[in-house]
Amino acid sequence: MGPRHTVPVRRVALIGATGSIGRQAVEIVEAHPGLELVAAASGSTPIDGLAPLTQAGGDPTELLERAEPDVVLNAVVGFAGLPVTFWALERGVDLALANKESLVAAGELALAAQARGGGRLLPVDSEHSAAFQCLEGRGADQVDSLVLTASGGPFRGRTRDELGDVTGDEALAHPTWNMGPKITIDSATLANKGLELIEAHFLFGLPYERIEVVVHPTSVVHAIVRFRDGAALAHLGYPDMRVPISFALTYPDRSATPVPALDLAAGLTLEFHAPDLETFPLLGLAREAGLRGGTYPCAYNAANEVAVAAFLDDRLPFLGIADVVEETLAAADGSPAATLDELMEKDAQARQLATRRLRVLA
Ligand SMILES: NC(=O)c1ccc[n+]([C@@H]2O[C@H](COP(=O)([O-])OP(=O)(O)OC[C@H]3O[C@@H](n4cnc5c(N)ncnc54)[C@H](OP(=O)(O)O)[C@@H]3O)[C@@H](O)[C@H]2O)c1
Repeated sequence: MGPRHTVPVRRVALIGATGSIGRQAVEIVEAHPGLELVAAASGSTPIDGLAPLTQAGGDPTELLERAEPDVVLNAVVGFAGLPVTFWALERGVDLALANKESLVAAGELALAAQARGGGRLLPVDSEHSAAFQCLEGRGADQVDSLVLTASGGPFRGRTRDELGDVTGDEALAHPTWNMGPKITIDSATLANKGLELIEAHFLFGLPYERIEVVVHPTSVVHAIVRFRDGAALAHLGYPDMRVPISFALTYPDRSATPVPALDLAAGLTLEFHAPDLETFPLLGLAREAGLRGGTYPCAYNAANEVAVAAFLDDRLPFLGIADVVEETLAAADGSPAATLDELMEKDAQARQLATRRLRVLA
């Protein structure tokens, strides 16, 4: 027998433990002897007993202080995930980031916090995890362009006229991914891909002109990186979030997961086409907000959150979501925020604008 190596256990804090990502993360952590769930938090759902330290509601950063984790998985939905992102980045604690909204809203401030803290920012979003793996640490200078794939959502192929009266239930029926309600609606409007475009810009330091979005209905290819030498690396796998969650929590290892290996003999459809920006204007609006920079991405995210909540609540038609975001962006003061407090203010202002617009449209 050779010498026994003891690998230190990684202490995981999971914020947003009761959601779609959170539940899958619990499964990954429980199955991995090298991972230990030391703290878990939810927005309001009771989670007693899930971890030694738990909290339902309140400020999750207080829990993080007590938990002293090696890695924080931020699986909170929406702008509410911001304090958790900054807690980890400022302290140099590894951040496994599912909460894309915090990076979209606070990109520059988040990167500055990461530079100060010196920890790792490991994307959990499947497309960004895929791109991160294809890049293998190579910088933007070696990259020609990045391709993010979109399933197209439940309304792929429909025209604007056919979307006037779609219901929440129809929009919640995603063809390839099983996710929480907010991101599922974002997938139906393509706002999710818009948020991911901005997220990719900050994560990989690529200008928007070099990030392309293509529709790929089977969701098997998650991202493609085209390098300057003419090679293009793609990341393939069944659409299952346990893969990027496991990758982020066990990085730089690749631990086993219950997800089956890709079966090529069963047939694989690799179909790609350009997104329909006229029917799904939220993708183009995200690109515009990203290009304008400053706090326009924050305003985009805030207005989208307000509009999606209203749609799910039957207070806004499906097509109204894009109208609310467009009007908010037109009225917003997108000047940059120098501090987190300023950013919070911009977020609140955008929410007010969006709510006002909502009253007109509803
Ligand atoms: N689901 C996916 O497959 C997927 C894929 C890629 C990226 N993402 C991203 O991952 C994030 C989570 O998505 P999801 O689909 O898992 O959402 P979800 O199912 O709606 O779950 C959201 C989680 O956040 C918690 N939460 C809400 N507000 C909170 C707060 N203020 N403090 C602490 N916890 C709070 C919720 O707690 P309660 O249960 O108590 O409300 C719940 O545990 C989103 O940013 C999404 O874009 C998700």
